[in-house]
Amino acid sequence: MAATTPPDPNTIVWFAGSYVRLGDANVNILTHALNYGTAVFEGIRGYYDEREANLNLFRALDHYRRWKLNCSILRLDVPKTPEELVEITAELCRRNRFKSNIYVRPLAYKASARIGVHSDNNDAFAIVAVPYGEYFAAAKGLKAGVVSWRRVDDLAIPGRAKICGAYANSVLAGDEAHANGHDEAIFLNNDGHVAEGSASNLFMIRRGQLVTPPITDNILEGITRDSVMQLARAELNLTVVERSIDRSELYIAEEIFFCGTAVEIAPATHVDHRPIGAGVPGPLTLKLRSVFAEAARGRIPAYRHWLTPTLAPEAVRA
Ligand SMILES: Cc1ncc(COP(=O)(O)O)c(C=O)c1O
Repeated sequence: MAATTPPDPNTIVWFAGSYVRLGDANVNILTHALNYGTAVFEGIRGYYDEREANLNLFRALDHYRRWKLNCSILRLDVPKTPEELVEITAELCRRNRFKSNIYVRPLAYKASARIGVHSDNNDAFAIVAVPYGEYFAAAKGLKAGVVSWRRVDDLAIPGRAKICGAYANSVLAGDEAHANGHDEAIFLNNDGHVAEGSASNLFMIRRGQLVTPPITDNILEGITRDSVMQLARAELNLTVVERSIDRSELYIAEEIFFCGTAVEIAPATHVDHRPIGAGVPGPLTLKLRSVFAEAARGRIPAYRHWLTPTLAPEAVRA
C-alpha cells in the first residue's frame, strides 16, 4: 500500500481558513470528531501529466459536490461552494509545486473541544494534498476474502456518507482479511448480500455482463464506480447491471475487481482461496483498467471534462 511514510510537515495545507504548514495544522485532543468520529472525509486523485507539465484533478467537482451532501447527513456545514473548494485545491497544488500524482484529503469535522457526545454547530474543515502512488500493487491481481464483519447499515451509520467513525468497520474488515492471508476484504451487508471492499466498490463479470450492487445495498456511492459504468457502456459496449449479488455468485464469476479513488481498478484473482476464472486478472477487467487510466490521464477527449488542470501557465514556466 502507498503512503506509509508520513507526509512532509512543510507541505502547505488548507486549515482554519488559510494556507499553513501541515506541521502547524493541529487540533485539540478533546476535539469532538477525534473522540466521537463526527467527521466526513473525501478522497480525490490528481494525475501529473508529464507531456503538458500539468497536474489534473480527477472529477474534483463531483467529489466536492458529494462531500457537501455527505456532510449534510451529519449536519456539518462547509461554508464554501464546490467550485471554491476546487479552486482551494488547485491553489494547494500550485503552492506545493507537486510534480507527481497526488491524493487530496478534504476533512470536515465537529471542532468543539469538550466532553459530551451531543454535537453543536462548531464545524471546521481542512484540505490536505500529498504525493501518492499505488494503493495496492494490483497489476497481478489481489486475493480477496469475505469477512465476518457486516458492512455498516444505513440505519446505524450511513456507509454512503464517508463518516470517519464508520471506518472502524473497514479497519476491522481489513485486519481480519489480512490475518486470513488475503490482500483485501469483501463485506456482506446485513441481508447477506455482497456490499463492497474495505475502501472500494466491487464489480463482477457474469455471463459477459458487468454487475455491481445497487446503491441501496449499504455501499458508498463511488465516483470511480460511476466512471467505470460510464466507460464500460460507452467504450466497451458492455451491459451494466445494478443488482444484489450473492456470496456464492462471487465463486462462479468470470471476473471480479475492486474500484475506488485510491484503489483505482484492482482485479481480484481469488475469493476465499478459490480462483476466479483462470485465477489471473480477467480480460475485461484489464481493458477497463487501461481505459480508465487513459481517461483519468486526459488521453480520451470525450472524458477531458473530468479533469481540472491546476497549474497556471506562469506556474508551469516557473
Ligand atoms: C467504503 C468505500 N467504498 C467505495 C469507495 C470508492 O469510492 P470513490 O470511487 O468515490 O473513491 C471508497 C473510497 O474511499 C470507500 O471508502
